[in-house]
Amino acid sequence: MLNLKCLVESNSLKSIPSSYICFNKNEENDFMLIDETNDIPTIDFSQLISSDLNARSVAIQKLGDACRDWGFFMLINHGVSETLKDEVIKGSQCFFDLSNEDKKEYIGEKLFDPIRCGTSFNLKVDKTLYWRDYLKCYVHPQFHVPNKPIAFSETLEEYVTKSRELIGELLKGISVSLGLEENYIQKTMNVDMGSQLLVINYYPPCPKPELVMGLPAHTDHGLLTLLMQNELCGLQIEHNGKWIPVNPLPNSFLINTGDHLEILTNGKYKSVVHRALVMNKKAARISVGTAHGPTLDTIVTPAPELLSKDSPSIYRGITYKDYLQLQQSRELERKSCLDCIR
Ligand code: SIN
Ligand code: FE2
Repeated sequence: MLNLKCLVESNSLKSIPSSYICFNKNEENDFMLIDETNDIPTIDFSQLISSDLNARSVAIQKLGDACRDWGFFMLINHGVSETLKDEVIKGSQCFFDLSNEDKKEYIGEKLFDPIRCGTSFNLKVDKTLYWRDYLKCYVHPQFHVPNKPIAFSETLEEYVTKSRELIGELLKGISVSLGLEENYIQKTMNVDMGSQLLVINYYPPCPKPELVMGLPAHTDHGLLTLLMQNELCGLQIEHNGKWIPVNPLPNSFLINTGDHLEILTNGKYKSVVHRALVMNKKAARISVGTAHGPTLDTIVTPAPELLSKDSPSIYRGITYKDYLQLQQSRELERKSCLDCIR
């Protein structure tokens, strides 16, 4: 199957094919309550880069607390224009609207293909099919994106550059919040030459959204993920044994800590479990993530500066590349690959 969008549009779907029916979603809900109170932390980016040292230090403290207690926060006053974000979403819609013939050259399954589009999570291992199509592009250190639709490449280049700048500042703040030198993470993880993966998720409208799952519970690889979406919601994060639905503030970015920040901090900042439900019956939901990690050959281990007799290393070192391969070889599931390197 090339893509789900095509399937949904071709037979004006009345019933859901059984391969997409995901009972786990409801089973999980039986023991994981949904908490509608939206007290996800908010970090003000302008304070984080403020020349007022006191304001900056307060913002860094809040950032550290958010990474430790939630692994997830909304970033406001980040300086990226709504126009640019809208163009990314519009361009993404146009990309998925291209004919199968136009998209054909990008269809692939190989993990390190510079550009690949596909469906579900990983057709080689998925037991249930997930209700999403995707486009994944490695955009750093080399920039690869499709050359269609028109002007999409320029829009994406501007967007991923801005995203990298924000992540750079956040990593400085995070380093300081851990009592490390400001450039510690960037230097030890070779972030300047590091990997940046753009993932555009396309969740087509679904006549029975309660039966399917967009993406099951998982954690992200990498240090930090920056995420935005169109006006439709679906993301939930796990917090204190509850699923918290995420309704982002207007013009905010969502940021979450990834597995490699958890390794580096020896578990102090946990990689947050999240999932994407499908709630859209009428229109497609689009989310755009950029996952920022070290270079592929960087061996990530807990930072020696954060270890002590009371806090010995809980992870063995592994290159980012080997970790990605490990993740790709498994079904996407709540138990992250971190368990394999303990
Ligand atoms: C993801 O976890 O990669 C996607 C989340 C979303 O679509 O909101
Ligand atoms: Fe994710």
